[in-house]
Amino acid sequence: MSTRPTSIRRDPGYTGLTDAVGTLPSQWYFDPTHHRHELSRIWYRHWIYACRSADIASPRSFHTLEVGDQSILLVRGDDGSARAFHNTCRHRGARLCRERAGRLPAAGIVCPYHAWRYNLKGELVQTSSRAHAEGFELRDFPLYGLPVTEWNGFLFTALSASPPPFDASFDLPLDRLDDWRLADLVVGHRLTKTIQCNWKVFWENYNECLHCPGVHPRLAQLVPIYGRALLERRDDPAWQDHAADDDPRYGGGLRTGAESWSMDGKPAGVPFPGVSAADRTAGHLYMTSVPSVFIVAHVDYVRVVRLLPLGPEQTAMSIEFLFLPQTLADPQCDIMKAVEFTDIVMSEDAAICEVNQRGLHALPHAAGVLMPEEYAIRQFQDWVRAELARP
Ligand code: FES
Ligand SMILES: [Fe+2]
Repeated sequence: MSTRPTSIRRDPGYTGLTDAVGTLPSQWYFDPTHHRHELSRIWYRHWIYACRSADIASPRSFHTLEVGDQSILLVRGDDGSARAFHNTCRHRGARLCRERAGRLPAAGIVCPYHAWRYNLKGELVQTSSRAHAEGFELRDFPLYGLPVTEWNGFLFTALSASPPPFDASFDLPLDRLDDWRLADLVVGHRLTKTIQCNWKVFWENYNECLHCPGVHPRLAQLVPIYGRALLERRDDPAWQDHAADDDPRYGGGLRTGAESWSMDGKPAGVPFPGVSAADRTAGHLYMTSVPSVFIVAHVDYVRVVRLLPLGPEQTAMSIEFLFLPQTLADPQCDIMKAVEFTDIVMSEDAAICEVNQRGLHALPHAAGVLMPEEYAIRQFQDWVRAELARP
């Protein structure tokens, strides 16, 4: 028995889906062959958030990143440029750097197998052989280079020589976060989690708040519109009934008296001076670059959540908390109340994603169905379909 009228009023500008549409096939969330297809069509083509620029601040510092079965080596050169390479030697293909991060020796990048040596630009400068065969030229065997974009203190790379334009890979204009002066911010805390779910399950959960009242009781109080299972004002078919109502239940934003996502709703750090009144009232601004990262800007900290696929049913999540340097220098600032709050929310999301993943295996469940509030999941799934279809 339906508990809703069959012909509900929908005001103009309503964002919800008006057709019942199916989800992606369940098999796409666990089939290893399909997963490899997604790696090659999506993960190996798009910009991937690697690390903060500060993580490889000085010449010779390096960082490695695993994306699917690919390993990427990011290195800071003597000229200050960040470069990325496949983490593979041109001789017989050994992995070059086995550590997550560190500093290369003065000799540069030295292969652990037969000691081929590359400079920080990836040029082969020396082999270990006594003589070179006729026709062998060092210059023919540089490391396989990858594109790098350094933006606002974030380093992105891509496993394709021609990724999409960098700015087009975000859902908002790149300058939308300028007021937060991201390049000046410092990582105050990091969290990592391994989630037993397909990477798409995570993004789908990210794209709806239908689950918020049940899964996130604390967040539903802090952000009252989430407590109504909605993300935005116009997600309510009868939104015009409260079109001019500033109550956060209808307009979004934080509950009255709260200023940030923290245990007590108070800022955990020194507020960013340049943030507009409208952005302060909203309390959070999301900017997303699928498949690897979303950035959430609050009044006093910025949260960077990165995903990497570990397998068809396993995803690595890492969260960085960025603050003004003065916040981290001030012993009065308790950044952990921000960390703790978002850890609760992200842990709730991780746990429910695992529940979703397990259920997808049911033999008769070839696909699910999207509800009106899940319009952003539809956009995401349309994007996935389009990327997979792209030659
Ligand atoms: S595989 Fe690297 S030097 Fe032989
Ligand atoms: Fe959630």
